[in-house]
Amino acid sequence: MTILVVGASGATGRLLVEQLLERGETVKIIIRTRSNLPHAIHNHKNLDIIYGSIGDLSNEQLIKYVESCHVVVSCLGHNLNLKGVFGQPRKLVTDTARRLCHVIKESEPTQPVKYVLMNTTGNSNRDIPETTTLPHRFVIGLLRLLLPPHVDNENAADFFRTAIGRNNEGIEWVIVRPDSLIDATNVSPYTEHPSPVRDPIFDAGETSRINIAHFMSELITDHSKWEAWKGQMPVIYNQP
Ligand SMILES: NC(=O)c1ccc[n+]([C@@H]2O[C@H](COP(=O)([O-])OP(=O)(O)OC[C@H]3O[C@@H](n4cnc5c(N)ncnc54)[C@H](OP(=O)(O)O)[C@@H]3O)[C@@H](O)[C@H]2O)c1
Repeated sequence: MTILVVGASGATGRLLVEQLLERGETVKIIIRTRSNLPHAIHNHKNLDIIYGSIGDLSNEQLIKYVESCHVVVSCLGHNLNLKGVFGQPRKLVTDTARRLCHVIKESEPTQPVKYVLMNTTGNSNRDIPETTTLPHRFVIGLLRLLLPPHVDNENAADFFRTAIGRNNEGIEWVIVRPDSLIDATNVSPYTEHPSPVRDPIFDAGETSRINIAHFMSELITDHSKWEAWKGQMPVIYNQP
């Protein structure tokens, strides 16, 4: 299987790439030239590195990179500095999803391509009833006004729910929602839920990046897991 990962140089993306390579998969990544990758994966024989900023690549280039891929994963996120949070591209995650889905369709895949989008528990799944408190809704309203990356995460998920939908012939998707991300050295037990079981604003739990990478690797390589979660927005927490 060949998997394209965007955001592969990020704290979660690089862990995902490492785990996919360990499972024997072939991985293509698109990273900016200044991005760092751990030495161990940089020279891996099953890793194809494409240098460039995803927003600067033409559709023709993207089609070339996407057409042999069975899975696309986005671990993109806005860099946590002033330029990353408030500068351009404000729609990094959403525009990348739109463009990659466009070129997936253009490439006329013979079987549906799987798209895994890394998202957040701060974004609710409006396909199903997810109850939130009034204070929660107030804070989310503020985040929408003040934090462009939050709006980008919401719009990217909405794009899959509403524009791609659950019965698309060319694309199947899963939107993965970690709670507060933390770093850990090893994979540890974690739980999977269709919706948050604690308030992501006032009672956030923890999710290790390595556990999210593990969950995404399982989704990609285990057919029954994919079938169980496709078209949904699973929430992952570290087991306390
Ligand atoms: N922090 C949390 O507690 C939390 C909780 C839940 C969900 N999330 C979400 O989880 C996702 C990933 O988190 P993370 O900590 O693994 O992210 P991260 O380490 O910040 O990685 C972000 C990735 O996006 C890339 N990127 C950023 N701006 C870019 C641009 N303009 N053009 C191309 N690539 C760009 C980065 O590339 P470079 O290496 O080149 O900069 C990097 O590969 C984010 O969407 C975040 O919203 C975060």
